Amino acid sequence: MPKGRLDHKVALITGAARGQGAAEARLFVREGATVIATDILEDALSELTNEIGDGATAYPLDVSDESKWLACVTEIESRFGGLDVLINNAGIARSAPLLETSLDDYLAVIQVNQVGCFLGMRHAGALMARSGGGSIVNVSSTGGLEGVPQMIGYAASKHAITGMSRTAAIELAEHSIRVNSLHPGGVDTDMIGPASERRAVDYGFLPLSRLADPDEIARAALFLASDESSYCTGTALLVDGGFMAGPTHWTPPEA
Ligand SMILES: NC(=O)c1ccc[n+]([C@@H]2O[C@H](COP(=O)([O-])OP(=O)(O)OC[C@H]3O[C@@H](n4cnc5c(N)ncnc54)[C@H](O)[C@@H]3O)[C@@H](O)[C@H]2O)c1
Repeated sequence: MPKGRLDHKVALITGAARGQGAAEARLFVREGATVIATDILEDALSELTNEIGDGATAYPLDVSDESKWLACVTEIESRFGGLDVLINNAGIARSAPLLETSLDDYLAVIQVNQVGCFLGMRHAGALMARSGGGSIVNVSSTGGLEGVPQMIGYAASKHAITGMSRTAAIELAEHSIRVNSLHPGGVDTDMIGPASERRAVDYGFLPLSRLADPDEIARAALFLASDESSYCTGTALLVDGGFMAGPTHWTPPEA
């Protein structure tokens, strides 16, 4: 067997039934990890772990439910003995103008994206500390570094993930746990609409002129999860096709 970049590591991925989380589950198992793939979409999750086969275990987990986190962590500890990698990937988005956003809609996004990430670090992080350390990757967004029109709850939750990741990086270093945030730009997944619609958009406003494939985000998550990033903690890794580099269609005024 060739050496994998995650050999002997146990990794928990949230929101793994589809999109980026599923791409990470497939890649991490190929790289030698034992993956606990979690989501609320139980059928899609079982399909994924059946497809992957050895190395992947499905575990239903709503990231916003603290009791489910506690049960999941207890199960991982008794079954696998510890945890080395946590990918806090689960997320939802709701879109409406600020002046038409209800408190319920705002809080629904915060509960999954922000509280879910906190609960993951709080409880899976505690298991990682008992296991001797590891790597936490919190999936934020370019929307965790700049505003997102029509998505006030999403931008708030993703900025919170950026700040929580930096704070956790400082606090958890003494437990040999590294914590980094990952900031995708547009990714070709169902989160941003049906495939036919999202592929019909002209992405010329992006330097790379296209959405990311989920595998391209998974490879960045792999770097942060693996020991190859052993000196990275508290960093915010952009994988955005150049979106945050600056405007593409700006010409300086003539002197
Ligand atoms: N797609 C993009 O353009 C984009 C850009 C930047 C960041 N992101 C972030 O990347 C992450 C992955 O998103 P994706 O693009 O793969 O979208 P996706 O919608 O395909 O996947 C999100 C997954 O999270 C799961 N999920 C939702 N609520 C949950 C809950 N309460 N508990 C557990 N799982 C839950 C969903 O069932 C789904 O499987 C999200 O955090 C998202 O905010 C996405």
